[in-house]
Amino acid sequence: MADPKSEQKKKLALPDLFKKASHGEAISWLTCYDYPTAYLQEQAGIDMILVGDSLGMTILGYDGTLPVTMDDMIPHAAAVRRGAPNTFIIGDMPYMTYQPSVETAIRNAGRFMAEAGCDAIKLEGGGEMADRIHGIVSAGIPAVGHLGLTPQSASMLGGFRVQGKSAAMAKKIVDDAKLLEKAGAFMILLEMVPDRVCKLITERSKDCLIMSLGSGPSAHGQLLIFHDMFGLYPKFKPKMAKVYGNAGEVILNGLQSYVREVGSKAFPQPENYFSMKDDEYNELLQTLG
Ligand code: KIV
Repeated sequence: MADPKSEQKKKLALPDLFKKASHGEAISWLTCYDYPTAYLQEQAGIDMILVGDSLGMTILGYDGTLPVTMDDMIPHAAAVRRGAPNTFIIGDMPYMTYQPSVETAIRNAGRFMAEAGCDAIKLEGGGEMADRIHGIVSAGIPAVGHLGLTPQSASMLGGFRVQGKSAAMAKKIVDDAKLLEKAGAFMILLEMVPDRVCKLITERSKDCLIMSLGSGPSAHGQLLIFHDMFGLYPKFKPKMAKVYGNAGEVILNGLQSYVREVGSKAFPQPENYFSMKDDEYNELLQTLG
């Protein structure tokens, strides 16, 4: 890795994100859960990082995101902040950390800001979550909404599938986006929504940036799950995930070589361990008798 101090980038603030969008430049956004990946993402010039509750699956190995807690999220968000000190970081609120009440939502959103140094939070849900967004924003915390496929309610949505394919369902997503915008969300993520619905919502939004995860090119920017991009999640690869490199394969090959070389004693070589001067060694032998 390069010297962390040598390649510092300017951190984008909320007005910079809006300026980018108003110039027609797309905002780049990735999930991230750890220090070294955050460091690399910042060096690559990513605009925003999401410390997603998807870490329940990608890092902790659960089948879904529901078991994830604030105490799981905070150490990861803090590690990401240490790796990417100059990147806009959004903490993703886990299941049941905002649904019960506005007060619960504000307290947990505050933890992301105070304990992990996040710049904003994200929560899932439509109009029924507008009062949570309003409360959080009123407490001075920038909030991002999340519509379409919302993994925390996958059971109610009939699984991990495209949302808003019928006119009636699409109308509900368009209406929800307006309600979240009115409640003060500065950004809304549309996950697995048809491209034309995403385009409509983007064109109609006034004070809110619209981001796409599998919802097409018309949004103000794009989000991908880092582990899907690099072949690091073994259970499945969603259609919307473009694979930019197969790090999983590279790591597996390396691990197999290590196992082979330890077995055949090809590892370690002198450059992999430390020696001792002859006179010191002889003195040691004498001392030991
Ligand atoms: O947790 C996460 O990474 C997310 C994405 C699926 C949008 O919320």
